[in-house]
Amino acid sequence: MSKDIYIHGTEPSEQERLAGLNRMTNAAFIRFLNVAPGTRVLEVGSGLGLLANEVAVSAADVDVDGVEVSAAQLAAARPAPRVTFTQGDAHALDFPDASFDLVYARYLLEHVAEPERVLREMRRVARPGGRVAVCENDISLLRFDPPCPAFERAWDTFITFQTSLGGDGLIGRRLFRLFRQAGFSDIELSVQPEIHWHRSPGYGAWLHNIIGNLESARRGLLEARLITERDLDEGVNDLERLKARDDGSSVFVWNRAMARR
Ligand SMILES: C[S@@+](CC[C@H](N)C(=O)[O-])C[C@H]1O[C@@H](n2cnc3c(N)ncnc32)[C@H](O)[C@@H]1O
Repeated sequence: MSKDIYIHGTEPSEQERLAGLNRMTNAAFIRFLNVAPGTRVLEVGSGLGLLANEVAVSAADVDVDGVEVSAAQLAAARPAPRVTFTQGDAHALDFPDASFDLVYARYLLEHVAEPERVLREMRRVARPGGRVAVCENDISLLRFDPPCPAFERAWDTFITFQTSLGGDGLIGRRLFRLFRQAGFSDIELSVQPEIHWHRSPGYGAWLHNIIGNLESARRGLLEARLITERDLDEGVNDLERLKARDDGSSVFVWNRAMARR
């Protein structure tokens, strides 16, 4: 079920993009998690396992389980010591109640059919007083200067396509409400910024990541006739041109929520 919703797929080029995104965003997310020594952790939708492996060494004596629906992602994952990856669906976690001190998901809820149900499951497997954390997308928050109108037109079709698959590329704005609906009361929202400009260390990698997002959906966008190949190419070229400009910049924020069971 969920595999079909996953807009990016698991082609080697996409796994490479996801690994690059991990290199850009893991340190800030691990600061957000602030894992204490001896914590039992679950990552839901663990993908290539890169984040889970880093979480496991972020403090002493940390054990991490990762649940991932895709066999292709699991095949590429290399568990570090004290890390275990298993195949499973976020909507029905195969763990007893109150199994973990910290349960988190990153870049997952936008891809699932029933995000509230996933959050309920995450809450169920967290121990009373344990923490549940997520970091998600609202891709409408992406800004470029100088403007990239052809890219923005293509990006809009990406949002439409993801919705048609059953996902939600704007889910970041809904986190507070979803957490409330899933039964949490003690909830804090925050953002993780992505601010890049010509010659800042992450500028090229960030634009490359955004282009990769669009490219991962190319076949689906064209098959769904949401955009012509020419317009899609023009959207990609917009960002390639921005990459080369010495006055280019980009601003985005990831939406985060942290709650206690
Ligand atoms: C964008 S990746 C993020 C991976 C990882 N959390 C990270 O931050 O690098 C989203 C992952 O969620 C997985 N996924 C999607 N739906 C899922 C579900 N229902 N249950 C478990 N995993 C799921 C996808 O296969 C994909 O590997």
